[in-house]
Amino acid sequence: MVLQGRRILLAVSGGIAAYKIPYFVRLLRQSGAEVRVAMTPAAEEFVTPLTLAALSGHPVEQHLVLRGGARTSWNNHVHLAEWAEALVVAPATSNTLAKAAHGLCDNLLTSLVLSAKCPVFWAPAMDLDMFAYPATQQNLDRLRTMGHHVWPSPEGELASGLTGAGRMAEPEFMHRALELHLGARPFWTDRTLLLTSGPTEEALDPVRFLTNGSSGQMGEALAAEAELRGATVHWVRGPLRRADRAWSPKVRVVSVRSAAEMHAAALQALPEASVVITAAAVADVRPSAPQDRKTPKEHLNRPLELVPNADILADLAARKVSGQWILGFALETHDAVESAQAKLRRKGADALILNLDGPETGMNSATNQISLIRAEGIEEGPLETKEQAARRILDWVERYAGIA
Ligand code: CTP
Repeated sequence: MVLQGRRILLAVSGGIAAYKIPYFVRLLRQSGAEVRVAMTPAAEEFVTPLTLAALSGHPVEQHLVLRGGARTSWNNHVHLAEWAEALVVAPATSNTLAKAAHGLCDNLLTSLVLSAKCPVFWAPAMDLDMFAYPATQQNLDRLRTMGHHVWPSPEGELASGLTGAGRMAEPEFMHRALELHLGARPFWTDRTLLLTSGPTEEALDPVRFLTNGSSGQMGEALAAEAELRGATVHWVRGPLRRADRAWSPKVRVVSVRSAAEMHAAALQALPEASVVITAAAVADVRPSAPQDRKTPKEHLNRPLELVPNADILADLAARKVSGQWILGFALETHDAVESAQAKLRRKGADALILNLDGPETGMNSATNQISLIRAEGIEEGPLETKEQAARRILDWVERYAGIA
């Protein structure tokens, strides 16, 4: 989504990892990006221009001078470099990155690097000794100090059969890094989001607990969208009931189990937060006397005494300081708008996301239909995926938190 229509210039130099570049081009194109490819003569030994032309949908740029008899012409690399919103050099050989680090431009690819006004990303790929060689590392440092982005070269099996650092970053990694770079929004890049999500579990004894049906999907979609927009995310997350994925270092996950743990972790994170979103389905009550040993079943057949849990959202809102903006959720089954408006007043949040509980919406479904409830009025969204709903929610935050 974020790469839709974005202009990526891919510069391929001559390393064995070039065999992964067709797949990378495909990933970019599937995300809607426009891709132009330039390659060095050495790169043609590893991947054919025809393959990359077919996958990118454009002729591959190879030479500074286009020879066509009487029609010999100058390939205007400046225009191509100006066209790009991001220039990716992948694989970047030690030779190509050394030349660029010292301002040399003896081919189309290095001329593009020197002409680029957009961010330049390097995916170094070479054998471990070449990668560790001091001049290579100094050249990478030079590129970094020039403002270029150097992606890590993971350790692993290399084409030589040796094992070590020097592999090209995986296409999925490069794709995600571009999404994160191009998705960043000024509103979020210097803000911290405190997010609560998931269910809580309230122990009866070491093996039994009270909980609810929250899947944590909405919270995950919010964390992913905030990550994409460049926010620092302090994510207090109840027990996960789905597979986790890798998050960038700006997303700090604090895993908790009970409402009391979630409350403590959220309070600790509050001072640094400029936006708070409480998407958690917090258990409203907990057993008054959890046992530290498994209760024999004959002792379970008696009334369970429950005590209320603290209302985390209300407590965060009560401690809110100027510049903070607090958004809660309201899951309602009837009199939805009136109940949500009353909840907004009662909890003291700046706004609530009203989540109708129905067959296609609510806690455990893949889709949601949400409305934004503020003291000033209501805005309604359509039935949409939780990812789309997360985008809508963060758009609303950008619109209203900026003026709070
Ligand atoms: N919430 C919270 N701490 C609680 C209960 C709820 O922080 N102990 C937050 C939820 O994360 C959500 C909002 O309050 O952002 C509203 O949750 P909801 O379950 O709709 O409301 P409740 O306060 O539980 O009220 P009720 O169950 O009566 O509707």
